[in-house]
Amino acid sequence: MNIIEVRNLSHRATDSKLILANINLAIKPAEFVVVAGANGSGKSTLFKHLNGLLIPSEGEVLIDGIAVEDDFKRARKMVGMIFQDADSQIVGETVYDDAAFGPENLGLPSDEVQQLVTQTLEVVGLSHLKDVAPHLLSGGEKRRLAIAGVLTMIPKILVFDEPFSNLDYPGIRQVLAQMAALHRGGHTIIVSTHNLETVTGLADRLILMQAGTIVKDGSFEDLLPSVENFGIRMPEATRLGMKVQPWLTR
Ligand SMILES: Nc1ncnc2c1ncn2[C@@H]1O[C@H](COP(=O)(O)OP(=O)(O)OP(=O)(O)O)[C@@H](O)[C@H]1O
Ligand SMILES: [Mg+2]
Repeated sequence: MNIIEVRNLSHRATDSKLILANINLAIKPAEFVVVAGANGSGKSTLFKHLNGLLIPSEGEVLIDGIAVEDDFKRARKMVGMIFQDADSQIVGETVYDDAAFGPENLGLPSDEVQQLVTQTLEVVGLSHLKDVAPHLLSGGEKRRLAIAGVLTMIPKILVFDEPFSNLDYPGIRQVLAQMAALHRGGHTIIVSTHNLETVTGLADRLILMQAGTIVKDGSFEDLLPSVENFGIRMPEATRLGMKVQPWLTR
């Protein structure tokens, strides 16, 4: 059974420009999938279809067998999205309130919310900042808060849209460690990035997008040598015919 199935998905902008053109994609539970492609190739648009933030012009998206459009609430709960812009995801007055937003919205009892949020802030390493206003956080801390906000919903699938941008080396490693831990825990991970070297060692599968279509879909290692045809930098080691040194392994 596929946890995600995208069938003949097309997306038109309001001016009827075709942004996604007949996308077909099946993802199995606990896969670690990387989506790459030049600016404007449609990655973020595709991601927004996975939990109903956008509605298909044609085709459909199934999450664990049920169409997103048939149950938006279920799709939002099953697919946690960490957006490209961490600031856009901040909703609370404090780090704690921000992380509590999701479970409070689900109507969980307050002692359960408290336990869940305390535990999640611990997991992402933000407990010591729980009373701080989110806009005071550094870029990396904001990214971790966005991850916390999603983790409190306990989604089966986590979608990270360019989660490494603006992060320093330790910040990237922390996000990678978070992803690796979730993946070990059986979650399905989908990540977009322009820097494939970063996710080497974690990713199973690479999907390359160009002009709103999927142009390659295969094993991460096998596709590395061909990425430069699609606006993505090939890791230096691959160019030299060597194995890429992973930033973090499973
Ligand atoms: N609402 C909209 N109306 C018109 N065009 C849109 C709309 N939303 C997205 N687009 C266009 O669709 C294309 C795909 O955008 P998308 O954000 O999915 O690309 P991306 O692959 O995520 O790019 P990046 O690497 O820059 O994040 C772009 O050309 C964008 O300008
Ligand atoms: Mg994008």
